[in-house]
Amino acid sequence: MVNGKIQTLNQFIIERQKEHPYAKGEFSRLMHHVGIAAKIVNREVNKAGLVDLLGDAGEENIQGETQQKLDVYADVHFIDALKSCGEVCGIATEENQHMITFNNALSKDAKYIFLMDPLDGSSNIDVNVSIGTLFSIYKRVTPVGTKAEMQDFLQPGNQQVASGYILYGSSTMLVYTTGNGVNGFTLDPSIGEFCLSHRDIKTPKDGTIYSINEGNYSKFPFGVKSYIKYCQENDAKTKRPYSSRYIGSLVADFHRNFLKGGIFMYPESVSYPTGKLRLLYECNPIAFLAEQAGGLASDGFNRIMDIQPKELHQRIPFYVGSSNMVKKIEQFLKER
Ligand code: AHG
Ligand code: MN
Ligand code: MN
Repeated sequence: MVNGKIQTLNQFIIERQKEHPYAKGEFSRLMHHVGIAAKIVNREVNKAGLVDLLGDAGEENIQGETQQKLDVYADVHFIDALKSCGEVCGIATEENQHMITFNNALSKDAKYIFLMDPLDGSSNIDVNVSIGTLFSIYKRVTPVGTKAEMQDFLQPGNQQVASGYILYGSSTMLVYTTGNGVNGFTLDPSIGEFCLSHRDIKTPKDGTIYSINEGNYSKFPFGVKSYIKYCQENDAKTKRPYSSRYIGSLVADFHRNFLKGGIFMYPESVSYPTGKLRLLYECNPIAFLAEQAGGLASDGFNRIMDIQPKELHQRIPFYVGSSNMVKKIEQFLKER
């Protein structure tokens, strides 16, 4: 609410566009279509149990993970929405082995590349626990008017033009950044609009929540094990022991820690030697949001957004959240 008035996502996008006098409205149109796709997916998520949208789709994605029906649904609907908006020349998603490029009459002058995890937290779909969508937007580096190439997709996160997520939770939220702070919008189902509810989000520098799949403890690197023990120690001055919170949906786990202060960790392990989360679809978009709100994102040693991607589906260890907590785990990893 602004001066008691509701500000919708579209009004907000148009207002921001006015701040850039040379902007031609292309990005605004793209974001408008992201909002539409989010509402379509949200509609299906909300009635999934009623319309045979639960369960697996009988296929595996490129990473050998079972695709859920909603994974496929979200993937198809986001791709359709982006195709028809004409502002995107290429898409890569967690569910597709190869990049998708558009070179039709509508998209031939498009300059944006769109990367996404269409449905995050698939294992939580069937049990009515929060899930999400993650996206990351870049400007192409190859000439406009030609077919997008792999180098357009393999840009480091520090080149992101925008990133965000949609959280299908107790309410549905869209949170995004264009590098000028982070703003959150809550879907008001009565008017079918995302409305500004969290202006200029700042994440606390210190937090009291740690989020990690602790069942894998024995498979973690020594530095991570030591940090977990540190989180559990009793020290009133540093508000320890911290609370352990883990949903198993990155978007939901991050969102909670983002607002309350905390750290989310998905280290490399015996089962996932290079980590589980995907640099392009999960880590970079979250890293951009975290940094824009005053937090940090690291692979344990390097800033996530400075890592040069080598392949579309690359996985990486991930530590993100309150700046002092991320610095602390980096210290543990370096020392041990
Ligand atoms: P996705 O559903 O897109 O494959 O992502 C699942 C990810 C992420 O959301 C979550 O943080 C993590 O996997 C959970 O993994 P574990 O079940 O191994 O803890
Ligand atoms: Mn995911
Ligand atoms: Mn996914």
